[in-house]
Amino acid sequence: MTNAAQHNEQSRVVLRAEDVWKSYDDETITVLQGANFEAVQGQTVALCGPSGCGKSTLLHLFGGLDTPDRGRVAVNGIEVNERRNLLRLLRHEVGFVFQLHNLIPDLTLEENCLIPTVAAGIDRRIAQARLRQLTDRTGLSHRLGQRIQKLSGGERQRTALCRALMNKPKILLADEPTGSLDEHTSAIVFELLLDVVATEGVTLLMATHDRGLAERCDRVLEMRDGKIHEPEYAR
Ligand SMILES: Nc1ncnc2c1ncn2[C@@H]1O[C@H](COP(=O)(O)OP(=O)(O)OP(=O)(O)O)[C@@H](O)[C@H]1O
Ligand SMILES: [Mg+2]
Repeated sequence: MTNAAQHNEQSRVVLRAEDVWKSYDDETITVLQGANFEAVQGQTVALCGPSGCGKSTLLHLFGGLDTPDRGRVAVNGIEVNERRNLLRLLRHEVGFVFQLHNLIPDLTLEENCLIPTVAAGIDRRIAQARLRQLTDRTGLSHRLGQRIQKLSGGERQRTALCRALMNKPKILLADEPTGSLDEHTSAIVFELLLDVVATEGVTLLMATHDRGLAERCDRVLEMRDGKIHEPEYAR
């Protein structure tokens, strides 16, 4: 790739929210009130703000798990709420780590991680190799056959991270990916997350309450009164 092409790739906007509004319960709760946001390829962005301010709501909109009342939400330049794009988006372009990890407790680590690859029609051997790579990276390879219910909190969060990355998405939406963990385990899981994201050139949008973790990202956003604010940043 030429330098110019590389520069263009790095400044490509991959996540964009434009004047996004979202309310619940017949508009009794208006969560997003004209939120605007943009992230370029490879950036790591932390989304902070008090409980209930709408962080998960925004991530769900980017992941196509919900639709805005008004405004545009686009991933890789394509509007998310156009239904025909949704399956491709969820299978290939975006990985999601949920606030409560949403793993299936009766299935093994391996089975949980292979589910998205089956949905995406990925060859079993390729999927196994990818799983091996991710579990080696996250220190889980000796736990592949273990049921989720027998894993520790940190192992579950690392499994959720592996699952989200199985189909090699270039965008990772992570909702409090270390929220249920103690400080020490949280730091370990977050290091792994940053490491994988940097190595694979993934754009990260992460909701978090943890200021210390947020500061490790390229940008820190603050959600307030249904809008997204960004203090001046120098990086
Ligand atoms: N499906 C829903 N139906 C009704 N209200 C909802 C729904 N989802 C979210 N809300 C409300 O919208 C508001 C924003 O919720 P959201 O989950 O986005 O907040 P959050 O910033 O992620 O909070 P937390 O930090 O606690 O995870 C809350 O008041 C919540 O009760
Ligand atoms: Mg939330």
